[in-house]
Amino acid sequence: AEENLRFDGRVAVVTGAGAGLGRAYALLLGSRGASVVVNDLGGSRSGDGKSSNVADQVVQEIKSKGGKAVADYNSVIDGEKIIQTALENFGRIDIVVNNAGILRDKSFARISDSDWNLVHDVHLKGAFKTTQAAWPHLRQQKYGRVIFTASNSGLYGNFGQANYSAAKLGLVGLNNTLAIEGRSSNINCNVIVPTAASRLTEDILPPDLYKELKPELIAPVVVWLCHESCQENGSVIESAAGWASKYALVRSPGKVFRKSITDNASPESVRAAWPEITDVTKRFEHLGSIEEATGSLLTHIESLKSPPGSSTNEVEDSYTF
Ligand code: NAI
Repeated sequence: AEENLRFDGRVAVVTGAGAGLGRAYALLLGSRGASVVVNDLGGSRSGDGKSSNVADQVVQEIKSKGGKAVADYNSVIDGEKIIQTALENFGRIDIVVNNAGILRDKSFARISDSDWNLVHDVHLKGAFKTTQAAWPHLRQQKYGRVIFTASNSGLYGNFGQANYSAAKLGLVGLNNTLAIEGRSSNINCNVIVPTAASRLTEDILPPDLYKELKPELIAPVVVWLCHESCQENGSVIESAAGWASKYALVRSPGKVFRKSITDNASPESVRAAWPEITDVTKRFEHLGSIEEATGSLLTHIESLKSPPGSSTNEVEDSYTF
């Protein structure tokens, strides 16, 4: 049998760790030997108010089981203070789990500037500030694991969550680039897309489903992604109820709608090609990087330079349903 996954000597910051998913991550990391900074502002679901209670309770829980933990009550908007707490108490930082979150659901027409700004500040800017403060330390020690938290609301859209959807998918973009910038320093960055019972979902999820979605069933996925032996980088992983899956963006093979390199594009030629441009049900392709996307573009341009009839725009590694 393989050895248990341990985090002895590693220091982890978990933001929003006073409740819900963050609490489950912090408890599991603490039980596996990590020194944990339990960050939580202790505010309401919509981001008002604050309290040290929730973070203190989780720290007590970790310590009562023999683990190492310290509370931090800063907002993630002041992420550099949270990383400072890790450095002052444990002398290093290895793992950053960006998890803190709030909701300010409104239909789009009714979103105020403050509903927009606070949701973006907590989710997107908070993850930026916290991760950026840790980044030079991770680079210098050539080791780090970073988690961002997105949502199906961002990936698919969800009525009343325009502010939240935008911020959550922004984190996927941030992750995509940090995975590239961190690669050479052994910093792996991944996104978790959870569905869990918490105060954020208690009035959204049907009760029968709610009781099956314990945060403790997602924590092992996040903890695995945070381990030194996990080489996953730049991925978006969905998890709930003891199940997990990796997301990928796909596109249709597309259609060149000019006859040759000298031919102009017209709205009519776009219209004629539209069914092929937009059909992702028969064949689709998955690109692994921006270089592959540029490479594929060059192939299409080359095909236009060839004699008429040869610009069929076939891509070899597309898949058929
Ligand atoms: P939760 O409300 O139980 O936990 C979030 C914690 O973050 C709270 O304890 C809160 O005090 C803390 N927090 C809020 N603003 C903060 C700030 N500025 N600084 C520090 N801490 C702050 O909610 P849950 O469900 O555990 O959410 C965790 C993350 O997962 C959030 O980012 C949420 O958007 C995301 N998520 C949750 C889903 C679910 O099904 N529960 C679905 C998709 C995403």
